[in-house]
Amino acid sequence: MKKLKRVYACQACGATFPKWMGRCDACGAWNTLIEDIEEIASSSTSAPGKSLELCALDGPLLHVDRLQSGVTEFDHVCGGGIVAGSVLLLGGEPGIGKSTILLQVLARLSQNYPCLYVSGEEAVDQIRLRAQRLNVSKAAVSLIATTRLEDVFETLTQHQETFRVLVIDSIQTLKTALLDSAAGTVAQVRTATSALIELAKTKGLVILLIGHVTKDGMLAGPKVLEHMVDTVLYFEGDRGHPFRLLRSVKNRFGACDELGVFEMHDTGLAEVQNPSAVFLTQRKDPVPGTAIFVSIEGTRPLIIEIQALVGSSGFSTPRRSVVGWDINRLHMVVAVLETRCGFSFGQRDIYLSVTGGLHLNEPAADLAVAAALTSALTGVPLPLGLVIFGEIGLTGEVRPVSHHETRLKEAHKLGFQQAFVPEGKGLSKGPLDAHYIKNLKLCLKELGMPSRNNRNKE
Ligand code: TYD
Ligand code: MG
Repeated sequence: MKKLKRVYACQACGATFPKWMGRCDACGAWNTLIEDIEEIASSSTSAPGKSLELCALDGPLLHVDRLQSGVTEFDHVCGGGIVAGSVLLLGGEPGIGKSTILLQVLARLSQNYPCLYVSGEEAVDQIRLRAQRLNVSKAAVSLIATTRLEDVFETLTQHQETFRVLVIDSIQTLKTALLDSAAGTVAQVRTATSALIELAKTKGLVILLIGHVTKDGMLAGPKVLEHMVDTVLYFEGDRGHPFRLLRSVKNRFGACDELGVFEMHDTGLAEVQNPSAVFLTQRKDPVPGTAIFVSIEGTRPLIIEIQALVGSSGFSTPRRSVVGWDINRLHMVVAVLETRCGFSFGQRDIYLSVTGGLHLNEPAADLAVAAALTSALTGVPLPLGLVIFGEIGLTGEVRPVSHHETRLKEAHKLGFQQAFVPEGKGLSKGPLDAHYIKNLKLCLKELGMPSRNNRNKE
């Protein structure tokens, strides 16, 4: 007989403890321990193993069957379609559009494959209303509203048409009667997910799970959920902007860190075919404090505008405020500009912003940030039609970055004529008029930014 043990499981990291504590010893989160039941293996029953056949790395490959939804941005993020027999987890903040995007994808998939939408959050009427709004109410998607895992399995066995695609909205609302704990706890989420994964693998089903995220933007429930599934996508974006970004953070069948861009309209999410163009502000005259950077999101280049504002401070400690970039990286770039290049930001407030609600975490943006900052400080604008990228070192040197040529090609495609780029061995100039930069000081001089040292000499 199976032995059951009462434990306390952390809802943030999944660690279990014999006693309740206010703070999880494993991850340091507060108030996350919840009573749970754990099954322990009984020592009296031993399950003998058997010797398995050894395989070589080289051998016949299984054909990977990909289901294409026709929503190209979604297919692109999944690595060219969703693989049959795989389980995908879509995380995102409440109200960002998770249910909307999966209903749209399902409506498209239903043209070729039988699909089932399981909602544990909304009633059938509410989903119908959304379908009407999205103009997909005629799609052949079957709906059920339940929070019982057993009901889902029974419905699947009763209906002989063998569904190919299943959406669970959301995994935190599903509950199995095998466990007493409440829906959304570690044990419930883990049990439901492993049962669904087994189903996907044996029946070749595609299962799309919607997952909640916590305040800090992490997927709720233990990290183990992310380990179990094949693909993890995050749907993110700024509520104030219509743009929504679909990002893959894990993909067993494709590249991770891929990015898809959507725009939220009153009739649902529309794909953005040329994302680089939407993040750019169209200008006729150059404006001080802006620099154009080519970022790489997964395998896709994106052109982004970086804006800076520098003003005299009314505080004893000046403000440094950043939207869409790392504040520590800003401190570093400012320190290099002051120490190595003779610019002084001393008693000035600095505001830096990445347009379009994107968050950059590439060091390649350093040079564009430095250019935007000095341009804002000196009032000298960068020329129109110029892109700039490169990583800055503490000595003021500019280092080469990855995807050099891809970035230049994208800039050329969008009509940029000039680029300030790092110098490096084997780097080609590409189609643009590229200026090779060795260090920051020379770069800013070439851009016509008067540093304190230069001004003193004049
Ligand atoms: P929803 O998909 O319900 O979010 P989630 O499942 O992630 O919680 O999306 C809800 C938001 O999207 C809501 O604030 C309204 C907005 N929305 C539109 O702007 N247009 C639409 O056509 C739809 C269906 C939703
Ligand atoms: Mg929802």
